[in-house]
Amino acid sequence: MKNIGIIGSGHVGLVTGACLAELDNKVIIMDDDVKKIGSLRMGVIPFYELGLAEMVHRNTDSGKLSFTTSIKEVVKQAEIIFICVGTPQKPNGEADLTAVEAVSQRVAKAMNNYRVIVEKSTVPVKTGNWIKRTVELNNTNNVDFDVVSNPEFLREGKAIHDFMHPDRIVIGVESERAANIMLRLYNPLKAPTIVTNIETAELIKHASNAFLALKISYINAIANICENVGADVTKVAEGMGCDKRIGREFLDAGIGYGGYCLPKDAAAFIRIAEEAGYDFELLKIVQKINENQRQQIIGKVKNALWNLNNKTIGILGLSFKPDTDDMREAPSIDIIKKLQEEGARIKAYDPKAMENAKAIFEDIEYGKDAYEVAVESDALIIVTEWDEFTNLDLAKIKKLLRQSVIIDGRNIFDPAEMSRLGFIYEGVGR
Ligand code: UDX
Repeated sequence: MKNIGIIGSGHVGLVTGACLAELDNKVIIMDDDVKKIGSLRMGVIPFYELGLAEMVHRNTDSGKLSFTTSIKEVVKQAEIIFICVGTPQKPNGEADLTAVEAVSQRVAKAMNNYRVIVEKSTVPVKTGNWIKRTVELNNTNNVDFDVVSNPEFLREGKAIHDFMHPDRIVIGVESERAANIMLRLYNPLKAPTIVTNIETAELIKHASNAFLALKISYINAIANICENVGADVTKVAEGMGCDKRIGREFLDAGIGYGGYCLPKDAAAFIRIAEEAGYDFELLKIVQKINENQRQQIIGKVKNALWNLNNKTIGILGLSFKPDTDDMREAPSIDIIKKLQEEGARIKAYDPKAMENAKAIFEDIEYGKDAYEVAVESDALIIVTEWDEFTNLDLAKIKKLLRQSVIIDGRNIFDPAEMSRLGFIYEGVGR
């Protein structure tokens, strides 16, 4: 059992803390937000993540997980301190590391014994080095410490599963002492582990997320060609995916990637490359293809309905992907804004994200389900592939719609079946 401290109670901090407690460590999670820590102590999780609430409750009840607003308390108790604070995107694409620096200073000032300081937040390469310098400068009690880069690869909605069953664990270290501590910590997970220097670990994270973005943009580019030549991108993906060197995952064409990680990380990686003296043109094109996918959906709606002014468009799905209420960088935001600019009236439904959506959109009518959205709509757009949309009673939907138009941004329906049912149906790349 290790004593672990987590600074930052966002998505990464809470999942990391809860999972490490589940692995029988004593974990204390710290955040400056007094209200948030107060709610967490009462068992309230500020966002939806499958299985997280249960895990937090179980481990707080058993005394393995606790919350505090005092960084001193964390540094006093915990030998390993994970920095999980936010690294928001600045207007130029760079990550804002103000919070990482401030936390490093505060941890350094409070240390009175050997500590391992782990950067878990997604940060530009060389941040580990900066943390080390910052800690050195503020190391009031002159104690030994190590900085470690241990990037996370957690998908929202599957974060607990991904933590407990990782494809790999990456540990960037400078000393054997810290390497051994980290290896022992993760030993129960029995996962392939890469121990390397800090810069390499930081780059593994960037290179991985950028590659995922690239894979999605690649299949979206193929989808555009498919549409022009009468091929089906879902079958192309299947055919490509059977090649073990390629793999089928992340080859679903659609309206492009969103969320808090892929768009932000791609932008940050372009900046990092630039600072390192490399013009990452490939990644810039990946971004451009991604933006185009959202634009194309509008074109498809117009092709089906002609003018959008005063038409009613039903949007099914608002979150950036299913099984989350997260609206950050969700494609629905761009799509709805463009439709509204064209004069369309918007009705929308999402199983989990409507509360968060209300803070973003103006002049939207929300339905209690997909059927309510379909009533008197001129077209439906599938924006997020929630399971409940796959199982819709399409005959009922057809009766409710003013015009039988479905634009499927996620290819959840079979085009032949849709045409048999009498829909004007358009997917992506089919
Ligand atoms: C991602 C990475 O997967 C994870 O490893 C990293 O640590 C954080 O970023 P997440 O943002 O939760 O996780 O979402 P992910 O499941 O990767 O999906 C990202 C976006 O890509 C979503 O908008 C999704 O709809 C889109 N996507 C994904 C596609 O358009 N096609 C695909 O084939 C896969």
